[in-house]
Amino acid sequence: MNLEMKTLCEPDGIDINTQPFILIIFGGGGDLSQKKLLPALYNLFKLNKLNNDSHIISYGRQARTQDEYKDLVKVSINKNNSEEKIDIEDNFLDKFIYLRGDSEKLEGINEINRYICNFKNIKEYQIIFYLATPPNLAKNILNLIQKLDLCGEPFKKKIIMEKPFGTDMESATQLNKCLNEIFKEDEIYRIDHYLGKETVQNILFFRFGNSIFEPLWNRSFIDHIQITVAEDIGIESRGNFYEKAGVLKDIIQNHMMQLIALVAMEPPTNFNANSIRDEKVKIFKTISNMTDEYMSENFVLGQYSAGKTNNEDVISYRNEKNVEENSNTGTFFAGKFNIDNWRWAGVPFYIRAGKRLNQKLSEIVITFKTPPLKLFGNACRDMLANELIFTIQPEERISLSMNMKYPGIENYPHPVEMNFNYSKLKLISISAYERLIIDCIKGDLTLFSRQDGIEEMWRILDPIVNHFNKNKSDLLRYPAGSWGPEKSKLLLEKDNRKWRI
Ligand code: BG6
Repeated sequence: MNLEMKTLCEPDGIDINTQPFILIIFGGGGDLSQKKLLPALYNLFKLNKLNNDSHIISYGRQARTQDEYKDLVKVSINKNNSEEKIDIEDNFLDKFIYLRGDSEKLEGINEINRYICNFKNIKEYQIIFYLATPPNLAKNILNLIQKLDLCGEPFKKKIIMEKPFGTDMESATQLNKCLNEIFKEDEIYRIDHYLGKETVQNILFFRFGNSIFEPLWNRSFIDHIQITVAEDIGIESRGNFYEKAGVLKDIIQNHMMQLIALVAMEPPTNFNANSIRDEKVKIFKTISNMTDEYMSENFVLGQYSAGKTNNEDVISYRNEKNVEENSNTGTFFAGKFNIDNWRWAGVPFYIRAGKRLNQKLSEIVITFKTPPLKLFGNACRDMLANELIFTIQPEERISLSMNMKYPGIENYPHPVEMNFNYSKLKLISISAYERLIIDCIKGDLTLFSRQDGIEEMWRILDPIVNHFNKNKSDLLRYPAGSWGPEKSKLLLEKDNRKWRI
């Protein structure tokens, strides 16, 4: 059964094409810029969402001429944005200027200063700094930004910080101190692109925009929750970054914690940034620190060995470029978390995430309790619990499984699905990065993290990272193309449950 969206009234529509900006991307030639930012900016340009008088300064370490950088912009957009080759308009390319610089040397920043001083009405622009760089460079770059006086003019400024914010609780706190010397909290946009995905935003709309589900959203009706963020790709060319981050800092500390919070949080008093962020922080606070014994039993860290994904042979993590041959970095994590509050006591949240898994799949499964009696006697086979599934990837949809009578002379309950799929809508959808860039231009912080939330997420993660650093032999290998180490299946089986897939 497919649900279609019947629009009863048109959304108000927001004109954001009003504020000219100068976007300064640190790491303008890096992996993230190529894969996500440049394609997102181009799409916004095509949708006429970028003010015509906006400019983009790309700051990077490599020596490149302006034409070489424009070529990189073209290639990135074509590679990551569309199936057919498109001609990128000059109007878009002309927005870019590439400046070469080191994150530790002042010369580059002086060049930015000089370039910006050429603008006559600098006060009319908002200046958005984007740190698309690994966390270890953030402090140096902030030091440089601090030296940027932009011709002594007062100007509106904002900063977008990529995740992971810091590398642990201490560094995140330090980093924040540096940030606060230059920016006020409402000028800081700590990005987690998962929050910009439609189905992730839909969790709150679904929960609080309908009155039929929220009364069931608690330990009386829900048996358990599963959250999967599985990728079939490996670490690609990001060995240097990934060796230090691993799955725990790359996915669990940010994307996964945000998903847990959105599913578990209480209704906010209104839909503004602080009310929502207050409720998320309360959820993080309910996750108590866990003992080593608990972690050994309920957490699984894995690393992929050679195998096959999508019918192709792939190498093991340890053979990837820029990875130590004896690396103990985890590329897979599964665990059972408890939210110790009134609503969720006794409802386990099983989570798993990893690279080189069997398929790309990000989903949240809310499994309800089964009916109290097996009314249909012996014929009662396939009596599955109702599941509400938020699929984030590969497609964005929400589905609800229910049991119906199978037509015929016997009494078989049979599961069917009710589906809502975003791809069926004939609406222009925008990617997570596009949405978040727009929100930053507009000044809407709702989908960005606040510092107290970041620190709470590290408070939960630091002991887990330490636990696996101390117990290196707990790292389990799994063949690429599988669903991770066997132990992650046993985690649910010992509770008489199993992963949906
Ligand atoms: C990023 C991680 O934040 O998210 C990557 O650094 C990961 O390792 C990516 O591949 C996954 O994002 P998406 O949108 O493809 O699920």
